[in-house]
Amino acid sequence: VPGAVRDMLLGRIRDVADYPVPGVMFKDITPLLADPEAFTVLTDSLAAICSRRGATKVVGLEARGFILAAPVAVRAGLGFIPVRKAGKLPGATLAQSYELEYGTAEMEVHAEDLTSEDRVVIVDDVLATGGTAEAALQLVRRAGAQVAGIAVLMELGFLGGRDKLKPTLRDAPLDAL
Ligand code: PRP
Repeated sequence: VPGAVRDMLLGRIRDVADYPVPGVMFKDITPLLADPEAFTVLTDSLAAICSRRGATKVVGLEARGFILAAPVAVRAGLGFIPVRKAGKLPGATLAQSYELEYGTAEMEVHAEDLTSEDRVVIVDDVLATGGTAEAALQLVRRAGAQVAGIAVLMELGFLGGRDKLKPTLRDAPLDAL
């Protein structure tokens, strides 16, 4: 995105020290979400990436990823597929466990929501260690779909998520606004 847009988005992300545990600098996107101009620019920018990558579906990651991925899917004219934390989806699911910056978890997708015809862009707010995105990549591929890319608002470069993802990404691009 252009520098002015980047600065506008960055200016609406609040740093919260020692949350949720001591030593972690939490990136709080709620000020950005509360600003309709910034939220619209963010949605439009992520939707443009989905279109550029030739996506047929947008996959969002619970919970903060949902807030972004749902309007992005509508804006791009694509279906929205939720990847949820374990135990929340009623149908037949595929499951993948993963490690977080703080703790471990398991995520699921409805197996029938994705097919071999699909090219998916995975949308989330933050790429930190890359564990969440890696699990989502694996889930999408196990469901038979192609990963057309990952698109996030921000990447915490110092945590090395991009490098960790490299082998799993293969040729799929990772875009961070
Ligand atoms: C956060 C964030 C990303 C993930 C990034 O979600 O929204 O999904 O962590 O971290 P990683 O790159 O180290 O895996 P979190 O699991 O805290 O859940 P939430 O969206 O429900 O708050």
